[in-house]
Amino acid sequence: MTRSKSVHLTGWGAYAPSRVLTNADLERMVDTSDEWIVTRTGISERRIAGPEDTTASMGAVAGLRAIATAGLQPQDIDLIILGTLTPDYLLPSSAALVKQAIGNTRAAAMDLAAACSGFVYGYAVAHAYLASGLARHALVIGSETMSRCTDFTDRATCVLFGDGAGAAVLSASDEPGGTLGIELTTDTAATYSIWIPGGGGARPASVAMLEAREQYMRMKGGETFKLAVRRLGSTALKALENAGMGLEDVDLVIPHQANSRIIEALAKSLAFPMEKVFVNIGRYGNTSAASVPIALVEAVEEGRVKKGDRLVMVAFGAGGTSGAIAFEWTADPADGRRAAGIGADAARIVVPDLERAANPYPPELDGLGEAADAVAR
Ligand code: ACO
Repeated sequence: MTRSKSVHLTGWGAYAPSRVLTNADLERMVDTSDEWIVTRTGISERRIAGPEDTTASMGAVAGLRAIATAGLQPQDIDLIILGTLTPDYLLPSSAALVKQAIGNTRAAAMDLAAACSGFVYGYAVAHAYLASGLARHALVIGSETMSRCTDFTDRATCVLFGDGAGAAVLSASDEPGGTLGIELTTDTAATYSIWIPGGGGARPASVAMLEAREQYMRMKGGETFKLAVRRLGSTALKALENAGMGLEDVDLVIPHQANSRIIEALAKSLAFPMEKVFVNIGRYGNTSAASVPIALVEAVEEGRVKKGDRLVMVAFGAGGTSGAIAFEWTADPADGRRAAGIGADAARIVVPDLERAANPYPPELDGLGEAADAVAR
């Protein structure tokens, strides 16, 4: 039996589309106010995918950036896991589209459905492959086009979500350190707290389904809020326990960015200082599976992470999924510069019949930032 390997995070990258949906834009669409959104959620603006952006295209760019940061080539990747609740299609998987777009011919590629916990779940699955020797380098992506499943007539949800992608390369190694503790849970009390009733096998697309607006996300906000605070805390603590660590050993927590009040309540419930919690929800909203890796990349870019730091990434999402990873940062943060030359058009998704496809851009957002379709990040 071979000894299990250590697993290190060796690459990181993100992509955010350039269109910006501000609270002032939303004030013109639904009965809401900048004041309500900022005080109740902490969100000021969010990014919106343009007509040509998809979960796979954004994930491919974030993935290429992560691969470059790791000092690898796309062909070095053995496994691609893409966490999303907004795949380009039910099939093929968006991970398969990413594989093609980045020019990899070797990797196993699959999507992972754990909603906002998708990246953290993907990390855990990749870790198992790498630790057991089944793969050497894995690309884990969280990518979402939330604007395509958001009901822009529902003020309770449309103010919350944004689009984007984040990615990490995980590498097997004989060097100690890297991943220290993992915990995944799924709380069945929250199975239908957030759901999209239509478009799947239970309620396939039909005129009746569309008229009932069942293609859009529905959420029991208050219920989700309370459960999120509880689960984020218990899951993070369990991952730390699995690592043989305590909160006092943690340099930075990267939580899922769903609501700044959830993050503050989490820190308070753990008696953990907010200065050691990374928050960027103000500029992105809740990007679901992309939120943790986008926050991780920004934390590194802002100099909040240095070699030897111990981090906890923790997420909560639809289906009652929750996951946490306690890990040691072993890379050189300056390696992020290796991704500087990778622009928005670095990867193209091949779609056989694009000219016949309907425009996916939400009609309520017509006119939003068309001039700004160049890349922002
Ligand atoms: N603007 C103005 N008023 C609003 C808005 C809005 N955008 N949205 C709701 N309101 C109103 C409500 O109608 C309600 O009015 P009423 O008292 O007259 O009935 C009032 O504000 C309070 O509503 P609540 O729902 O109690 O507001 P709350 O403070 O709970 O905030 C929110 C709502 C922001 C949705 C919060 O509950 C929340 O963040 N929930 C968690 C969401 C989450 O964590 N999701 C994570 C997972 S997502 C995933 O996995 C895809």
